[in-house]
Amino acid sequence: MLWSVICGKKEKPEKMKNKQLRTPCYMIHKDMLDDGIALLKNGLERDWKNACVGYSFKTNSLPWVVEYMKQKGFYAEVVSENEYDLACKHDFAHIIYNGPVKGKRTFFHALEHGAIVNLDAKRELDWLEESGKKDVTVGLRVNFNLEEMCPGETSAGDEGSRFGFSYETGEFAWALNRLKEMGVKVSGLHLHFGSKTRSLAIYRALAQKACELKNEFGLELSFVDLGGGYFGGMENRPKFPDYTKVIAEELSRAFSVEETMLIMEPGTSLITPPIEYLTTVIDVKKTYANHIVVTDGGRIDIDPLHAKKGYFHTFLYQNPETKREILKKQVICGFTCMENDRLFVAENTKALQVGDQISYQKVGGYTMCLTPLFIRYFPNVYLEENGEYRLIREAWTPEEYSQKSIY
Ligand SMILES: Cc1ncc(COP(=O)(O)O)c(C=O)c1O
Repeated sequence: MLWSVICGKKEKPEKMKNKQLRTPCYMIHKDMLDDGIALLKNGLERDWKNACVGYSFKTNSLPWVVEYMKQKGFYAEVVSENEYDLACKHDFAHIIYNGPVKGKRTFFHALEHGAIVNLDAKRELDWLEESGKKDVTVGLRVNFNLEEMCPGETSAGDEGSRFGFSYETGEFAWALNRLKEMGVKVSGLHLHFGSKTRSLAIYRALAQKACELKNEFGLELSFVDLGGGYFGGMENRPKFPDYTKVIAEELSRAFSVEETMLIMEPGTSLITPPIEYLTTVIDVKKTYANHIVVTDGGRIDIDPLHAKKGYFHTFLYQNPETKREILKKQVICGFTCMENDRLFVAENTKALQVGDQISYQKVGGYTMCLTPLFIRYFPNVYLEENGEYRLIREAWTPEEYSQKSIY
């Protein structure tokens, strides 16, 4: 094939040192991933032994990552038919099926195979009614005014979340009643909310709400699922044991560890810290306005929604001992032909040269899985363990890009 000639020899999945990595690429640092996992497990073991972790597929569903999370004993937390099928492909023994856009086929498959299914749409109640199923248990996602309890903190703000059944409007009570009439048991509550702050106060409020709902509606709950949205791997920010401590404090007012399982659904807190993105400088140019540094990486790979205010980064100079001019301003740019593919401005730093590298840290969440196939296809992903690197996802070529196309 012509393209195999163009693309050259395939990289072999053998161990290599970082100087041999083909950029741009992502690197997963296994020790850092393990540290996050251990912190979470220790927090739960200390504060609420009857617990499980559903790893949020949407945050990063690279096959190596989901397989590793399975090996660590985590459940798969999925929100679409594709994600559900992916979890099955990876033989997850336990799946948590969330979100308002579940597919009917996988909805029933999940119920029949013992998955935790958190209802989030009225049509799911219709499906249950049509099926006449009675021997199933479900969870119910709650929509309530968290913004009032934690002013200025929730992602949706005064507009309120769009997920779950509303406590305030009575839709939550309506759903409970309707399920009761059908003979379907509600065995859990799901209270995931996105927040701007990821604060401990958010989780205190969620646990508090779970207690209130249990008492108000006389619920017998075998699980309370507080969703994801935690910090992980950040200095001066809460860590997993801080969250589990406040959650346990609140939950224990209405629940017992023996009877009710705590579910957490972390995504970014586990997978953002251990992933780094490495780029190489391929050109340096002076324009009338700026000193431009062009790299082979791009903003779409570390900030696909173009929403971040800055990036943790490190300059890796070739020959760092040689003296270099200090430049007031260097504009670090990416590979796309978009004018706004400018990653950041380096101020008063050594002049970058072709071949130098820039690495970006903490980029594992909502990046690899949101990267578009724009101009250049998915880059290599390496696993770093004890300073050695192994290819775990080979960069896509036109061959993978064209798969399933009909022309
Ligand atoms: C239901 C649910 N659970 C878990 C998560 C994971 O959140 P995070 O990646 O912030 O931990 C999300 C993210 O939106 C979600 O919607």
